[in-house]
Amino acid sequence: MSETDRPREAASPDVVWDAGTCPRTERERLLGQRAATLWMTGISGSGKSTVAAALERRLVEGGRLVYRLDGDNLRHGLNADLGFSAEDRAENVRRAGEVCRLLADTGAIVVATFISPFTKDRLACRRVHEAAGIPFLEAHVHCPLEVAESRDPKGLYKKARGGGIAHFTGIGQEYEPPTDAEIDLDTSRSSIDESVDRLIAALRTRELIDG
Ligand code: ADX
Repeated sequence: MSETDRPREAASPDVVWDAGTCPRTERERLLGQRAATLWMTGISGSGKSTVAAALERRLVEGGRLVYRLDGDNLRHGLNADLGFSAEDRAENVRRAGEVCRLLADTGAIVVATFISPFTKDRLACRRVHEAAGIPFLEAHVHCPLEVAESRDPKGLYKKARGGGIAHFTGIGQEYEPPTDAEIDLDTSRSSIDESVDRLIAALRTRELIDG
C-alpha cells in the first residue's frame, strides 16, 4: 500500500484522508527504483553520518534518487524545539520517522542518521513504514565507547565529561542497542568503504537496488 491509499488515524474524526490518484508505484516506475528507508542508529561518533554521506554519494553516482536525513540537521529546523530528554528524543525520532516515510513515498531511498537511543521509538518508526508498505532497514552503527570518545569529531564527549552537556548519550543517558537490526556495522573494524559495501549489499539482497 502506498501513502496515497493508506488511511491513517487523525486526532479528529473530522480530518479525512485524501488518497489522491498517484500511487508510489508510479513514482517508483518513473524513477526506475524502489523506495526504502535505511535507518542508521548509534551513539555520537559511531560513524553514522560519515558512512551515510559516503553511501549517499555512491548511490547518487549510481543514478539513484537518495536523500540523507540527519539528526543534527533536523534539529536546526523542524525539530529545533526539542532537547535531549527521553521524551524529547521520542518526539524527535517520531517526527523523523514520519518525515522518512513521506520522503520514501516520493520513491526515494532515504538514509536516516539519528542516535535514536530507545528501542521503542525505533520500533515505532518501523511500524509506521510497515503500515505504508515501505521497506525499513535498520543498521546499528557501532564501535566501543572509547573509540567514539577518541574520535570526538564535535568535541562533545570532552564537554559532556566536563559536565557541560546533560543527558549525553553513553555518558549521562542510556543507549539501547538494537537486537534485531538488519545490518550490524562495527566501524572500529571496517573502513568507510567496507561499511558502504555492506549497506549496498543489504539493499541488493532485498532487491531494493540492482546492478
Ligand atoms: S536523538 O537521540 O534524538 O536521535 P539526534 O540524532 O537527533 O539525537 O541528535 C544527536 C546530535 O545532537 C549529536 O550528534 C550531537 O551532535 C548533538 N547533541 C547535543 N546534545 C546531545 C546529547 N545530550 N546527547 C546526544 N547528542 C547530543
